Amino acid sequence: MLILGIDTSCDDTSASVVEDGTVIISNIISSQTEIHKKYGGIVPELASRRHIEMIWPVVDEALKTAGAAFTDLSCLAVCNGPGLIGSLLVGCSFAKALCYSKEIPLVAVNHLEGHIFSSFLDNPGPAFPFLALIVSGGHTSLYRVDAFGQYKELGRTRDDAAGEAYDKVSKLLGLGYPGGPVIDRLAGEGNPGEIVFPRAYLPESLDFSFSGLKTAVLNFVKSNPLRPNREKGGKGGVEDIAAAFQASVVDVLVRKTEWTIKKEGIRRVVLSGGVAANSALRKRMKEMGDKREVEIYMPSLSLCTDNAAMIAAAGYHHFKSGHRAGNGLNPVAYLPLS
Ligand code: KG4
Ligand code: ZN
Repeated sequence: MLILGIDTSCDDTSASVVEDGTVIISNIISSQTEIHKKYGGIVPELASRRHIEMIWPVVDEALKTAGAAFTDLSCLAVCNGPGLIGSLLVGCSFAKALCYSKEIPLVAVNHLEGHIFSSFLDNPGPAFPFLALIVSGGHTSLYRVDAFGQYKELGRTRDDAAGEAYDKVSKLLGLGYPGGPVIDRLAGEGNPGEIVFPRAYLPESLDFSFSGLKTAVLNFVKSNPLRPNREKGGKGGVEDIAAAFQASVVDVLVRKTEWTIKKEGIRRVVLSGGVAANSALRKRMKEMGDKREVEIYMPSLSLCTDNAAMIAAAGYHHFKSGHRAGNGLNPVAYLPLS
């Protein structure tokens, strides 16, 4: 069964053809990073305009790469939220028009559900029930997943998402946008023990908080002029700041996942979302999994960040469950999963 997935929730235009919810036949992503990086973050109006330009070429390329015609598709799966409303509107309007004119069934997929089901692509996914930690630019949430469609939110960020903290700290360190990959690389050259930033464990709950950490980095930078390590006698420079910031984020994410495993008694964990591409987080999660005999499922790096293959993967289950979206489908900026 071939499904065409479409994701335009944020700043990437993506279309993908996936077979039976697991095998990627094509996955095309048109990135807008070059457009937004001069502003230090995503400009929503520019994002939606670029989606309008790219949606048709990206869908066309996804079908051509897969060698698929519209008549080969069992259905089309489109992300209808959460995300930037102008960006979502482009994907949803395009999908509705295409499905109407080509008489293809349409299903709607929650972006967070897509991130969870990215762990089923090109690898056998976990058995139910499992835990899912979604760490992205817009979300940091822990879910218990009992079956397809049965999601219970156990914790969420009370302020910044982990990826948002990466992007904001990168901006104040003068490292540009997006912050995650550049801080990840720079942290590898620094000493995480040289500076100590706070860890908001919030021991009474499974929620997260990253805004205090961001402020701590800001205060440190205000009283310590930014220089590379080599210009600061080998320590206390930007590499050490990046390493110390990353150590704080990773400590909190891994520790709280460990608490959740204990609390829920579930020994399978999916790690997904853009921050799941982080090298230190992947390493520490794997070490924790080995030590506690917990299975950790991490999508390949290119499937952690936004892509339409994950939308098609989740769309497969919607289609099989008989769900259908009509011409009245509307995007929703705040769309909870539970
Ligand atoms: O899932 P995603 O592509 O978009 C959202 O749904 O938000 O995640 C994007 C986020 C950005 O904040 C980016 O800085 C972060 O993922 N990111 C990373 C890494 N690669 C991307 N954060 C830490 N380390 C990385 N290697
Ligand atoms: Zn995402």
